[in-house]
Amino acid sequence: MADSLRDCETVLAQAATMVRPLVRSRVHTLPPQVRHVAGLHFGWWTDDGTVLDAPAVSKGVRPALVLLACRAVGADPDAARAAAVAVELVHNASLLHDDVIDQDPLRRGRPALWAAKGVPAAILAGDALFFAAVQSLAGAPAADRTVPVLLAAVQALIEGEYLDTLMESGTDVREERAAEVAAGKTGALLACACELGAIVGGATEERAQLLHGFGRRLGIAYQCVDDVLDIWGEEPVTGKPALLDLRSRKVIIPVAAAMAGHTPQARSLRALYSGNGPLGEEEAARARDLIEQTGAREATLRRARRHTADALHLLDQAEPEPVAAR
Ligand code: FPP
Ligand code: MG
Repeated sequence: MADSLRDCETVLAQAATMVRPLVRSRVHTLPPQVRHVAGLHFGWWTDDGTVLDAPAVSKGVRPALVLLACRAVGADPDAARAAAVAVELVHNASLLHDDVIDQDPLRRGRPALWAAKGVPAAILAGDALFFAAVQSLAGAPAADRTVPVLLAAVQALIEGEYLDTLMESGTDVREERAAEVAAGKTGALLACACELGAIVGGATEERAQLLHGFGRRLGIAYQCVDDVLDIWGEEPVTGKPALLDLRSRKVIIPVAAAMAGHTPQARSLRALYSGNGPLGEEEAARARDLIEQTGAREATLRRARRHTADALHLLDQAEPEPVAAR
């Protein structure tokens, strides 16, 4: 376990070294005011312009997947840098908008941009990063194949996010819907990351699709775990206050799984969620306990394991270069 963690950290650190400077130089091409607020989001500087040395940053899972997918099809990951930058920029664009939608005041342990500088700043910085992502791909080789893949992923992301808001408003709380949200919100961009890496690495369409499938399932598994952490994770790990999602009555995967049952706990949870306004601290803690009692925490982790197994099966079929695959 310790070894695999060390490997994982090394892989993420190597990818960060290859991608972060390029993300930064791409953001530097933005007009000054938008560049300033984008830099606040990344934690590069404070509002008065003081440069920060070691901000809490994105884990960089998505760009690392782009580079690894490229290597997995036998190419030099250098060929995938522009695509990795694009995926990281889209991810950050989506987080800026997501925090506005969720009204989450914290991101990576810092005030979310909308909370620090207002909703217009966050929406426009998100828009700017999204188009900067397209610019990154448009100026790189194979743009005729990569740009449509990125744009299709963004449409899926938007659909996933919108479905998520419908779940929150209580119009649709089925467990399968929650899984669909995960596939759109998270699966689509991880799928895109792997597919783009494969394309720029010169893979056949079939191989690129296998890696797309791998990323998609990995993304769903990732979202399942993220949702479990949203309930049972600690603030220092998640960068967000505990039980935030429950307090705002978000129907994340474990909640949908718990509500689907016919037990007294499921009924109590549905009743708790049926009111208006945020849940108080004690109510949120009660919701967490009810979810646990229905077995939904374990069921969500089982779902994550199932998708991970499917992901690994597809990866295997893509006959990847072994080091990248590991
Ligand atoms: C985080 O979910 C949200 C996403 C991963 C996707 C959000 C997508 C959009 C806003 C649409 C795409 C828009 C653009 C400009 C590309 P979460 O709320 O479960 O995660 P969190 O706990 O990290 O906030
Ligand atoms: Mg959110």
